[in-house]
Amino acid sequence: MQVFKSLDQWKTWRAQLDTAGGQSLGFVPTMGALHAGHLALIAESKAANAHTIVSIFINPTQFDEADDLNAYPQPLEQDLALLEELQIDAVLLPDAQQIYPDNYRYKVIETELSERFCGASRKGHFDGVLTVVMRLFNLVQPTRAYFGEKDWQQLELIRGMVAAFFMPVDVVAVKTLRDQDGLALSSRNQRLSREERKLAPIFHQILKNADSTGSAKQQLDAAGFDVDYVAEAVFEHKLRRLAAARLGTTRLIDNIPIKTTKQVMLHE
Ligand code: PAF
Repeated sequence: MQVFKSLDQWKTWRAQLDTAGGQSLGFVPTMGALHAGHLALIAESKAANAHTIVSIFINPTQFDEADDLNAYPQPLEQDLALLEELQIDAVLLPDAQQIYPDNYRYKVIETELSERFCGASRKGHFDGVLTVVMRLFNLVQPTRAYFGEKDWQQLELIRGMVAAFFMPVDVVAVKTLRDQDGLALSSRNQRLSREERKLAPIFHQILKNADSTGSAKQQLDAAGFDVDYVAEAVFEHKLRRLAAARLGTTRLIDNIPIKTTKQVMLHE
């Protein structure tokens, strides 16, 4: 497995990688602190592509709170050992100066969906996500790129960006991986205290079982979550319920498909 910290060395290696003759390249962008959810993305990429590349870059422009960025887990050695075992082709490990030589003067901004749900309370978050994903796509030039459904709004926005800018990459969505108790896997789960970890699966249970978003919010409040939002919206003709809530200092997000005839239009 090749590990690239230098973008110049990366570009040289990428140029000689034989994708011109139809060999496909799968790309899994990450911020590290890899868990089984990431491994599922990598497994899908390996199954469908001749080459698989993973990037680890804690993208500062998508953090709306300095404390959240500073507390983001960074077990780099462990991540690299895990990737080595998975026998991927290469890891891209750029730093912020390499990714943002323009000091983030140039950005990708979506003006509707990115303002709602998580975007309503995390100003600029999705500008940072879309901008870094576009930059990484330009550097990696993948055939396919893999994203988890847990970050549903992110996935939708990336799909939208790829379509809007005619970007030659297939965005592949991978189902949310959950612990046995239903908690969606996330790098942030590592920050939950023992007590919070015990409570955390209720988030998904309430989301799944509540009759309405109002009732879900009420139940979450009562259980001790600090609810950011619970909402429903139609994506590609299918209704989903999405939610974000804090447990202590950790922000949890999740989403589920809703089987109902009730249709709440995205642009109501
Ligand atoms: O989902 C993530 O880990 C990040 O938002 C991503 C897509 C790697 C961009 O920094």
